[in-house]
Amino acid sequence: MDVLICTAKEQDEWCETLAACLPEAQVHAGPDAPACDYAVLWKPPAAVFAHQPRLKALFSLGAGVDGLLAMPALPRDVPLVRIEDCGMAAQMIEYALYVALRRFRRFAEYADAQSEGRWAPRGLRMREDFQIGVLGLGVLGSAVANALAGFGFAVSGWSRTPKSIEGIDCVHGSAGLDVLLARSEVLLVLLPLTGDTEGLLGRELLAQLPDGAALANLSRGEIVDDEALLEVLDSGQIAEAFLDVFHREPLPRDHRYWTHPRVRITPHVAALTPYSAACSQVAEKIRGFERGESISGIVDRARGY
Ligand code: NAP
Ligand code: GLV
Repeated sequence: MDVLICTAKEQDEWCETLAACLPEAQVHAGPDAPACDYAVLWKPPAAVFAHQPRLKALFSLGAGVDGLLAMPALPRDVPLVRIEDCGMAAQMIEYALYVALRRFRRFAEYADAQSEGRWAPRGLRMREDFQIGVLGLGVLGSAVANALAGFGFAVSGWSRTPKSIEGIDCVHGSAGLDVLLARSEVLLVLLPLTGDTEGLLGRELLAQLPDGAALANLSRGEIVDDEALLEVLDSGQIAEAFLDVFHREPLPRDHRYWTHPRVRITPHVAALTPYSAACSQVAEKIRGFERGESISGIVDRARGY
């Protein structure tokens, strides 16, 4: 069995780790590999598919597959399989907890007060009264929602199809989204980028958040309308935005987000794919494929995730 691995960076480390996890295969690195049975990919150049006539499946080393699906050269009739969790849920939980605690305990307000030399204590709040909305209840969103609810916060979650998760107020559809937005003091975005979610958080929906809410976009920049977000940040309706992902990455040096006093930027690091867990998961799935078993994580191309 021949397996091709092609990543935009750290190619050697990925190749070594995959070879160790899949000793029964010949692992080839880079876009010029000979014809292979499987391809393992992260942001590959289009040329990678030029001489690959016999691929049985494609594996994305990212949870999100919007980038791969947007490549015209991506073979259409070959299953595309994505990474599921592999340690990314724990990282998303850390980020979400940081945002939730910073807002719940008013640490940003106290930092402002300190900068003005003001002693300004605020009253006690209870966790169960602090409303958090999670957009997307998939592998990562449901882990985040469960962790926040387990911590005692009041958590609502939004998905495309109806769901029932103990301890989470699960909603779906546009009526469900309206209810969730109206009460969320913290809104966490963990949706995939698809035709339906692109530009979803524009003026109309952002305006439905309560005054002083915070937004954390942890999935894809294109889901948020930047101009609309800057307007609600300027007006103060949104008190703080935590942005890990952007329309263009790296975020252009002259983008207003860099200097906006209410914006906190992280450089697409909310959840990084760990080499070893990801390569073991891919190796297990390749073995399953070879045995003719059904495997999880196959992308529904019509749905876009
Ligand atoms: P997933 O398991 O596929 O979950 C996607 C969730 O979004 C599902 O609950 C799905 O609803 C919901 N959804 C999709 N389209 C929707 C729509 N139109 N309306 C309402 N809900 C919709 O994905 P995941 O593994 O949790 O990952 C989520 C995203 O996180 C990835 O796509 C990627 O973009 C991003 N990500 C970012 C980083 C980072 O470092 N910033 C790292 C990893 C992943 P159903 O349950 O009804 O299908
Ligand atoms: C990272 O953004 C991923 O989709 O895994």
